[in-house]
Amino acid sequence: MEKIRSFNEKINIKNKTIILRSDFNVPIKDDVIQDETRINLSIPLIKNLLKREAKVLLISHLGRPVNLKSKNFSLKPVFKYLNEKINNNMYFYSDKITNTTKEKISFLKRSEIIFFENVRLNEGEIKNDDNFAKNLSALGDIFINDAFSCAHRKQTSIHKITKYIKNSYAGPLFMKEIHSISMVLNNKKSPTTCIIGGSKISTKLGVITTLIKRVDHLIIVGAMANNFVKFKGNNVGKSLVEVGSEKIIDEIYDKATKNKCEIMIPLDFAVSKSMDGKANYKDPQNVEDDDIILDVGQRTIKKISEVIDNSKTVLWNGPAGYFENKNFSKGTISIAKKISDNTNDSSLISIVGGGDTISSIKNNELDVNFTHLSTAGGAFLEYIEGKNLPGIEVLK
Ligand code: 3PG
Repeated sequence: MEKIRSFNEKINIKNKTIILRSDFNVPIKDDVIQDETRINLSIPLIKNLLKREAKVLLISHLGRPVNLKSKNFSLKPVFKYLNEKINNNMYFYSDKITNTTKEKISFLKRSEIIFFENVRLNEGEIKNDDNFAKNLSALGDIFINDAFSCAHRKQTSIHKITKYIKNSYAGPLFMKEIHSISMVLNNKKSPTTCIIGGSKISTKLGVITTLIKRVDHLIIVGAMANNFVKFKGNNVGKSLVEVGSEKIIDEIYDKATKNKCEIMIPLDFAVSKSMDGKANYKDPQNVEDDDIILDVGQRTIKKISEVIDNSKTVLWNGPAGYFENKNFSKGTISIAKKISDNTNDSSLISIVGGGDTISSIKNNELDVNFTHLSTAGGAFLEYIEGKNLPGIEVLK
């Protein structure tokens, strides 16, 4: 594995100002955080920095704001949550980061924190803008990126900032993700199975194409599978499908045949007339024009379990259905339990990733165990795909 500069206990940080890039991109509804996993995982490092008497500047993004004045993308709920968990003084900085910010935060004392508003509300962030990088980097002496889940983004607080702060490091969570994913990929035992869910095939085409060359079984679930079901000539009713996906699917089947990778798609479904309805189990030939496919059915769950039983390594990303409605969470729960049981009982190597996948597990309060549970979604897939991630490249 490539050498990455990682933050460690030997670095003297007393009285130094540390810019810590975390990933607090968590689901928030009516100002209430729906899943705190990412925030909780970041707390040990924050406490470590405060104990070592550093001044901490916390930076994160939330969502993908288009209107930079929008109030819907505020990190205030995360600030409030963290403030309750951490005893030290913590201030919220709601202004944009400009060349006057350094002066404005000069009141900060050692072992105190400033929590900045959503960094994507600054115009320069997603543009990886040089001027914004100068203003941001001027605030601190040391930069730590502990947001592996954002390493695939070429944005200022992940990428360009390191041009101006020589002392830039990967944090402990970042390193743990890389080590665990690499360890699983390098030690993976055959047969290997990959289960991919989610809604868009076009965004996952790269990883699917790469995985076809590396795994024995590829199981497609979630709304993405509707495209395959339709491709095979079945009615998918009013289910979510992607326009123009036929060409992509044709290529996928072609590559799978060449690489002897077996593709499995759902055999039956849980459908409903509305997203908040009840589950009605149907075989493909019985799907009606006003049905929406919202989960996999019992036969599919059984078949997936058999494939997992016959696998020595399983990678899983993306829920099997619309788990937000409990009536359609059976497929996802069954997959999670089966992978976990086999990880415990028959030393299956399992690697599970993605914000939605974690939320589905958390929503159902499942007590599950995997070889590695990644909090990253897109970054996890791109890393597995073997891409050079911008946020990793700059820390080498
Ligand atoms: C994620 O949730 O995968 C990360 O926070 C990255 O978010 P993004 O896809 O909006 O860049």
